[in-house]
Amino acid sequence: MSEFKPGLDGVIATDTSISYLDVDNEEIVIRGYDLIELAGAKSYPEVAYLVINGELPNHKQLTNFEKILLDDSTFPNEAYEVLKLAPKKSMVMDIIRTGISFLAGFNDESDLMNTSHESNLNKGIRLIAEVAILTANSHRILNNQNIIKPDNSKSFAENFLGMILGHKISSKEAEIFDKILICYIEHEMPNSTFAARIIGSTLSDMYGAFVGGISSLKGPLHGGANEAAIHMLLDIESKGGSKIADKYIMDKLNNKERIMGFGHRVYMKKYDPRALFLRDYIAELESNIQNGKELHKIYKIVEEVMAREKGLYPNTDYPIALLFYLLGIPIPLYTPIFFASRTSGLIAHVIEQHNNNRLFRPRVLYTGPRGLKL
Ligand code: CMC
Repeated sequence: MSEFKPGLDGVIATDTSISYLDVDNEEIVIRGYDLIELAGAKSYPEVAYLVINGELPNHKQLTNFEKILLDDSTFPNEAYEVLKLAPKKSMVMDIIRTGISFLAGFNDESDLMNTSHESNLNKGIRLIAEVAILTANSHRILNNQNIIKPDNSKSFAENFLGMILGHKISSKEAEIFDKILICYIEHEMPNSTFAARIIGSTLSDMYGAFVGGISSLKGPLHGGANEAAIHMLLDIESKGGSKIADKYIMDKLNNKERIMGFGHRVYMKKYDPRALFLRDYIAELESNIQNGKELHKIYKIVEEVMAREKGLYPNTDYPIALLFYLLGIPIPLYTPIFFASRTSGLIAHVIEQHNNNRLFRPRVLYTGPRGLKL
């Protein structure tokens, strides 16, 4: 039996050609490219195509791909009816999870359970479009707003943000939202990707893997951290703002509380390259709202205190939390948008798992009693 590592810390779970966190060289490798370079130069659909297919698209491939990402012809009206049945106190992540399960039923069993590369690709790419529709409209329906269907005259990011906000957005806002989506797209082996691969390894289907993935990503130690981070910044603002930010964090640290949006299992005491890249966009949006500048000030103080006291740096959820707030995105959608972006990474991983499958079935270090008699 091999050595026991709680939380599988440092354990290599699989081989992959999709992505790798090269912490020493501060690079997130995506199919051979540096994610930050991709985020500076490419759009979400281009990077999604790369993540899923292993190479960047040519013009024709990109045009066809973008068409599918904005196509709602496979999204049945019944799915909107299911969303409307959800209790109003539901969390958006739970409604999306239900929506994904429901959509699975629109595939014949033989198509659903077909794990061939081509079948997975078809189902997966449709799911990118469908999860974006589910994300925006789950929140709209919960808040008694009208349903907004995709507008295929827009880019993926502009359309997605437009469906969420329900009003026209500027090209700068669309551009920054696109970069955020790219930063969330794929990140080696986080808990949700592992969950999706574990499910895929039983030869279960793409939808099932997504349902497992979204349940994992919901947790505050994973995707839920972006919502927790903005709640903290707003709490600091309401209790005195930048004047009390240092003390607020010190009190939390003294109470052994976690500061959400800081720390990372792999980066540990290093800066997440995505957080470094995205923080520069905060200044571009801070005038969008009245309290934007003050929140930015608090943001910087919290970052300084965490570096000074714990030697810990922001992960990507920290700048994204503030950027989403400055974009006017409702807080309950922060984690769902992370998942909507990550669909591309999950598709690539389920395809890779199915193409070279070995069932995940680890062992345990048993610590219970033995030899009890009835
Ligand atoms: N605030 C305060 N202390 C922290 C934090 C934090 N955010 N993160 C780690 N530490 C401390 C922790 O208390 C411990 O200190 P000590 O050695 O003195 O006891 C040390 O750092 C190591 O912590 P750990 O829990 O053993 O490290 P881990 O690898 O299990 O934790 C983590 C990784 C992401 C769960 C953790 O950093 C954390 O809870 N962060 C806050 C939640 C968060 O931002 N999650 C998003 C992660 S990145 C995006 C994603 O994956 O979705």
